[in-house]
Formats: sequence, C-alpha cells, structure tokens
Amino acid sequence: MGIREILVVILVTGFCFQAPVLSFQNLTCNPTDLQALQDFMKGLDTVIDGWGNGFSSDCCKWPGITCNSSFSLGLNSSVDTYRVVQLELPSKRLVGKLSESLGNLEHLRTLDLSHNFFKASLPVSLFHLPNLELLDLSFNDISGPIPVVIDLPSIQSIDISENILNGSLPESICVNSHHLRILNLGVNYLSGNLPPGLGSCSSLQDLGLNMNDLRGGISESLFQLQKLTQLSIQDNKLSGPLSKEVGNLVNLVRLDISTNLLSGTIPDVFHSLGRLQYFVAHSNKFSGQIPPSLSSSPTISLLTLRNNSLEGNVHLNCSAMTSLASLDLGSNRFEGPIPSNLPSCRHLTNINFARNSMSGQIPESFKNFHSLSYLSLSNSSYSNLSSALQILQQCRNLTVLVLTLNFHDEELPADPTIHFARLKVLIIANCRLKGSIPLWLSNSRKLQLLDISWNCLEGTIPVWLGNFTHLFYLDISNNSFIGDIPRSITGLRNLIDGNFSTVQEPSPDFPLFMIIKNSARGLQYNQVWRFPPTLALSNNNLSGQIWPEFGNLKSLHVLDLKFNNLSGPIPSNLSGMTSLEILDLSHNKLSGTIPPSLVHLSFLSKFSVADNQLDGVIPTGGQFGTFPNSSFEGNNLCGDYAFPCLSDSKPPPQPHSKSKVEYRGVVIGIAVGFVFGVACFIVTDRYVWTWHF
Ligand SMILES: *[C@@H]1O[C@H](CO)[C@@H](O)[C@H](O)[C@H]1NC(C)=O
Ligand SMILES: *[C@@H]1O[C@H](CO)[C@@H](O)[C@H](O)[C@H]1NC(C)=O
Ligand SMILES: *[C@@H]1O[C@H](CO)[C@@H](O)[C@H](O)[C@H]1NC(C)=O
Ligand SMILES: *[C@@H]1O[C@H](CO)[C@@H](O)[C@H](O)[C@H]1NC(C)=O
Ligand SMILES: *[C@@H]1O[C@H](CO)[C@@H](O)[C@H](O)[C@H]1NC(C)=O
Ligand SMILES: *[C@@H]1O[C@H](CO)[C@@H](O)[C@H](O)[C@H]1NC(C)=O
Ligand SMILES: *[C@@H]1O[C@H](CO)[C@@H](O)[C@H](O)[C@H]1NC(C)=O
Ligand SMILES: *[C@@H]1O[C@H](CO)[C@@H](O)[C@H](O)[C@H]1NC(C)=O
Ligand SMILES: *[C@@H]1O[C@H](CO)[C@@H](O)[C@H](O)[C@H]1NC(C)=O
Ligand SMILES: *[C@@H]1O[C@H](CO)[C@@H](O)[C@H](O)[C@H]1NC(C)=O
Ligand SMILES: *[C@@H]1O[C@H](CO)[C@@H](O)[C@H](O)[C@H]1NC(C)=O
Ligand SMILES: *[C@@H]1O[C@H](CO)[C@@H](O)[C@H](O)[C@H]1NC(C)=O
Repeated sequence: MGIREILVVILVTGFCFQAPVLSFQNLTCNPTDLQALQDFMKGLDTVIDGWGNGFSSDCCKWPGITCNSSFSLGLNSSVDTYRVVQLELPSKRLVGKLSESLGNLEHLRTLDLSHNFFKASLPVSLFHLPNLELLDLSFNDISGPIPVVIDLPSIQSIDISENILNGSLPESICVNSHHLRILNLGVNYLSGNLPPGLGSCSSLQDLGLNMNDLRGGISESLFQLQKLTQLSIQDNKLSGPLSKEVGNLVNLVRLDISTNLLSGTIPDVFHSLGRLQYFVAHSNKFSGQIPPSLSSSPTISLLTLRNNSLEGNVHLNCSAMTSLASLDLGSNRFEGPIPSNLPSCRHLTNINFARNSMSGQIPESFKNFHSLSYLSLSNSSYSNLSSALQILQQCRNLTVLVLTLNFHDEELPADPTIHFARLKVLIIANCRLKGSIPLWLSNSRKLQLLDISWNCLEGTIPVWLGNFTHLFYLDISNNSFIGDIPRSITGLRNLIDGNFSTVQEPSPDFPLFMIIKNSARGLQYNQVWRFPPTLALSNNNLSGQIWPEFGNLKSLHVLDLKFNNLSGPIPSNLSGMTSLEILDLSHNKLSGTIPPSLVHLSFLSKFSVADNQLDGVIPTGGQFGTFPNSSFEGNNLCGDYAFPCLSDSKPPPQPHSKSKVEYRGVVIGIAVGFVFGVACFIVTDRYVWTWHF
C-alpha cells in the first residue's frame, strides 16, 4: 500500500467515525436536566464560568457537567437526549443556596459542590436521588438539619463535613442505603445521641462524626459495623464507658474517641483489633491501668492516652509492640519510674510522659535509644539532671527535649563533655536551676528553640549565643543574669532573614500546644515551629544599652526586655524590626525620647515603655493611637493622650489629619491584635504561661 492509499483509508475511517458523532451533536441535554440546572443557577449569587446565557443550551458541554455517553432509551425513544450523571464544581467560590431542583437530576450519580460558600439548608430532594452514588458538600456554610427521610439506594459516599448543620443524626440513614461505605458529617453542630439506626449501615467503612455536639453513650449499634476501618467520633460530648463490644470492629485501622467524656476502664479487647494502628483516646475520663492487650499490641503505631485519669506503673511489652512509633501518656496519674525497656520498642520515636507522678532518674538503657527523637518529661518528679543529660546526649536522633518543672533546685551541669549534636529544641524551664549557661550548649549548633526561663541562673549571657544560626526563639527570662546583652544576639541569622512561612519540620501532636477551635473550622497547631520568633530577656539584671543593631532583626516578632537595668536611649533603628508585634521595654532606666520612627512598626500590637526615665513627646500615627496610657506611664512623657503637653512643646502638625491616622491605626491594631490573639492561643497548654503581656 502506498502513502496515498493509506491516507485514503485514514480519511474514510475518520469519516465513518465522524458521522455518528456529528449527528449526536444535535442531541442536547435532557430538557428536565437543563431546567434543573437553570433553576440551580438561579439560586446562586455568583456565576459559573461557562454556564448560562449566551452559552450552548447543551448543558452537557458546560464545565463540571458530565452526561451519560449513551442514549437514554426510554419509552420516548424518538427523543434521544443525554442525561446529566455528574455535577462537579468543587472550589469554584460559588455563593448562594442549593436549589431543590437538583433533585430533578434523576440520573445523577456524582454531586460534588465541596469547598464553596453554599449556605441555607440542604434540599430534601437531594436525599431521594435513585442513582446518586457520591454526595460531597463538604466545606460550605450549609445550615439546618439533615432530612429525616433518606432514600438513596445507590449511595456509597456522603460527605457533608465542615458545614454548620444542626439537629440530630437521621435515624433511618441506612434503611434504604445498603451500599454506604463512607459517611462524613464531622465538624458541624449536630446534636443528640448516636442513633441505633446506624447499626444498619452494614457496608460502612469510614464513619466521621467528629467535632459535633453529640451526647449520650456510644450506642452498641455502632459495634455491629464490622467493616469499619475508620471511626472518628472525637470532639463530642459522648459519655459512659467504652464497651468491650468495640472488639467486634475487627477491621479498624484508626479509632479516634478523643475529647469526649468517656469514663471507666479501657476494655481489654485489643487482641481482637488486629489491624488497629491509631488509637487516640486523649482528653476523656478513663481510669484504671492500660489494658495488657493494648500494651502488647503488635499493630499500634500511634497511642495517645493523654489527659485521662489512668494510673499505675507504665508497662509496655516492647518485644510485642513492634510498630509503636508515638506514645503519649501525658497528663495522667501514672507513677513509678520511666520503663527501662522502652529502647527495645524499636520504632519508638516520640514520647510524652509530661504531667504525671512519675519519678526517679532517666534509665541507663536510654543510652541506646537511637530511634528517640522527641522526649517530653515536664512536670513530674524526676531528679539528677546531670545524669539525665549524660545519658540523653547519647540518643543520636534526639531533636526535641522538654524537661520543664523537674530536677528542682539542682545545678545545671557544666560538664564540658556533654554534647547534644542534633538537638533543635531544648526546654528546661521552671526548675529553679542554679549555675550559669554552660559552654557545652555552644556545641548544639542546630538549636532553633531554647527556653531556660524561670530558673535561678546567674552570670552573663555568653557571646556565642549569637552563633546559633537556626535559633528563632530564645527565652532566658526570669533568671539572675547580669552584664550587657551581647551584641552578637543582634546577628542571629534566623531572626534577620528567617522565613517562617514554611513549616520547618513536623512534630508530634503533643501538648506543648493547644487546639484552636474558631467557629466551625477546627485548626490544630501543635508544632514547636509555630512559636513566634522571640527574644525574651525580661526579669533579669541586665545592664548597658539596647543595641541599635536590634533593628536588623527583621523577622523578630517579640522583643521582651522588661524588668532589667538597661539604660541609654531607645535607638531609632528599632523601626527596622518590621515584623515586630510586641515590644516591651518597660521597667528599665532608659532615657531620652521615644523615637518617632517607631510609628512605622505597622504590626506592633503591644508596646510598653512604662517606668523608665524617658521624656519628650509621645509620637503619633501608626499603631501609636492604639496603645493604652499604661504603656507610657512612669516617665516624663507627654502627648495627645492622657498626658497633654504644655503648649510650647506641642508636636509639629502631622501630615495627615489626626482623626484619619488614628482611625487607620485602630483598624490595623484590631486586625493585628486579632491575628496575634489567635497565635497566642497556640501555646496555652505549655507547662507554664511564660508570657506576661
Ligand atoms: C442537526 O442540526 C442541523 C442544523 O442545526 C440540521 O441541519 C441537521 O439535519 C441536524 N441533524 C440531525 C441528525 O438531526
Ligand atoms: C447511561 O444511562 C443508562 C440508563 O440510565 C444506563 O443503563 C447506562 O449504563 C448509562 N451508560 C453510561 C455509559 O453511563
Ligand atoms: C415523549 O416526548 C414528547 C415530546 O417531548 C412528549 O410530549 C411526551 O409526553 C413523551 N412521552 C412519554 C411517554 O414520555
Ligand atoms: C438550628 O439552627 C437554627 C438557626 O441557627 C435554629 O433556629 C434552630 O433552632 C437550630 N435547631 C436545632 C435543633 O438546634
Ligand atoms: C482534658 O480533657 C477534658 C475533657 O475530659 C477537656 O475538657 C480539656 O480541655 C482537656 N485538656 C486539654 C489541655 O486538652
Ligand atoms: C511480650 O510479648 C512477647 C511477644 O508477643 C511474648 O512472647 C511475651 O510473653 C510477652 N511478655 C510478657 C511479660 O507479657
Ligand atoms: C534516626 O533518624 C534518621 C532520620 O531522621 C532515620 O533515618 C534513622 O532511621 C533514625 N535512626 C533510628 C535508629 O531510628
Ligand atoms: C546522679 O547520677 C549519677 C550517675 O548515675 C550518680 O553518680 C550520682 O550519684 C547521682 N546523683 C544524685 C544526687 O543522685
Ligand atoms: C519567676 O519564676 C518563679 C519560679 O522560679 C515564679 O514563681 C515567678 O512567678 C516568676 N516571676 C515572673 C515575674 O515571671
Ligand atoms: C562563634 O563564632 C565565632 C565567629 O564565627 C567564632 O570565632 C567563635 O569561636 C564561635 N564561638 C563558639 C563558642 O563556637
Ligand atoms: C518564604 O518561603 C516561601 C516558600 O518557600 C516563599 O514562597 C516565600 O517567597 C519566602 N519568603 C521570603 C520573604 O523569603
Ligand atoms: C503540674 O502538675 C500538677 C499536678 O499534676 C498540676 O496541678 C499543675 O497544674 C501542673 N503545672 C503546670 C504548670 O502544668
């Protein structure tokens, strides 16, 4: 065959295939579907790109619409139309209400309108679509109840999480829906009990009811759902015991019952749960001991029992617990020593034993704990810090060490052989430790966060602190340090050009930090790396001046120098700290004036120079309109606020009219104040609240 023949064949073949397609093109979407979609559009306050007037009346060509690719051969076969089987418009910024007309898309199989701004209530008609398999309305603002009668014989997945639904869970949710595999109604305002009807959802694999207002006991019907692999009922008000019937859920991989009011003992049924990897039960009222089947589970990798009333000695069978990676037993009533066999849990990386009544010393065996990366032991009764550091320095992978509120009145060891090479976070606060900042610390070149506040440490602040190129949070407040602030601190690289917009490293969900719940959306910032970039040197006996080079710290958010003996002027260069939110210079011996350049610190929401020896005029403009009089008292300052200046020292007229400037300042202040207020909540479950703003 020559080229020409081949071309002819191609053309003819092409034509043959082309012909039916051409004739189909006249077929438009079914008029009922078209009408339903047009009515849906009428309910919107926004337009959908590619839909509506001026566009093809063939709705099958509209973006987000998929039609059935074959004819709908009904009785009326003379009218051949395509039927809409998929309507998918996620994350399109759509605003408006969901029309009942969507229920007329009777061939619809997939409806995905997630991540938009739909409001008002759920159309009842949606819950009667005979062919609907997937319904995703998550991340909208849909309110009101879930319809009582649900008739979705084909449904496999329902996700209406992250809305503002209220009312109770529908009793009959699965009566006609035998294929439902995924049901996610989490992060709403649903109330009432878990209905017994849930027990008929026999195909259910993934049930999400977290962050609602559900009450009462966990109904036994839930434990009939043998296919469940994920059960998330955390953040409700469920009470009563966790029945041993939970052992029926043999396929469970993730079980989260945290933040409820569940009580009694944890049932000893974990040998039945042969696939369970995540057991999260923190913040309940469980008592008694960890059951043996749990402390020897070969599958569990994440075990979180924090904030209960569990007691006894901690015994884990590490030869059995071959998967354990993260162990959080904080805030319970455990007592006795740290188990010395933990290093034989080969994958154990993260441990939180904070806030228990455990005591004794760090076991010698921890020398070989090479998997350990994160260790928090704060607020128990451990002793012998010297031995603790000697042992823990040999944990090659240790990056975060929190020892706050232990080792009371001991000496911070100065042994020069101590060497923590990989340490990124060291917190030994509130221990009344004696001694000074040890030289061995200078070898921890990777330190990002150092908190040795609330101790009784003395001496000067070493110059080499400025060598920590990764440091972004330094708190040495409330000690007895003397001498100058080393100028080297103004050269901390990460505070000059640190980029904190990127999460630097994951850390386990341990309670240095707290959950933020704002409105319906739940946020969780449990990461060390979310601390605001800070220099806290307050409540010491530091003297000398405030270096103008502090102005280089463009990434610093908090500078707290209050309650020291600092003297000299406030350098006007401080206006270079353009990210600064809090500047507290109060209770020192600073003199001179407040530099007008500070009005350019546009994120400043808290400022104090109270109780110094300042004089002159309080600058106006920027954020300065938002600071209270108490920020300035105890000086010889005057200004437009509470301390009017004598007429001859009146400040020169400002370029803008005063009211305008102040108004803008207030708005910025409120916005910044809000942002920072939210940020502050992050840290409230720390061992102590070390900020006193
Ligand atoms: C399709 O529509 C065109 C005009 O729009 C018409 O000429 C043609 O005959 C129609 N074809 C069929 C198969 O209905
Ligand atoms: C089209 O719809 C008919 C009837 O609704 C159905 O039987 C057929 O499987 C569908 N075909 C496709 C490709 O979706
Ligand atoms: C068939 O289609 C015609 C025209 O659209 C309509 O008037 C008629 O009611 C339909 N018949 C049935 C049985 O659906
Ligand atoms: C649901 O919310 C609406 C409006 O906020 C309210 O009027 C109604 O009483 C609530 N229903 C229930 C059951 O809480
Ligand atoms: C501890 O658990 C209770 C519920 O049992 C909860 O109210 C409280 O907020 C939890 N505390 C923390 C710090 O998570
Ligand atoms: C720990 O688990 C191993 C392996 O499952 C088992 O052989 C051993 O008897 C257990 N030890 C104890 C004290 O329960
Ligand atoms: C130490 O950490 C590294 C990387 O973080 C990891 O690859 C290694 O497996 C860890 N060592 C042990 C013994 O877990
Ligand atoms: C601390 O531990 C070391 C080494 O285990 C030991 O020699 C020393 O006596 C201990 N100190 C106290 C006060 O128990
Ligand atoms: C300083 O620390 C002690 C505990 O060592 C604490 O009682 C005191 O309240 C702290 N003072 C300030 C001002 O933070
Ligand atoms: C700190 O850095 C300086 C300059 O890079 C260097 O000379 C000094 O030895 C370092 N100090 C320590 C304790 O590492
Ligand atoms: C910070 O890092 C992010 C992500 O890597 C980048 O997009 C952003 O431009 C950086 N900001 C600065 C100020 O370097
Ligand atoms: C330390 O633990 C005790 C008892 O466990 C508790 O009452 C106290 O509030 C805790 N202190 C801090 C600062 O967490």
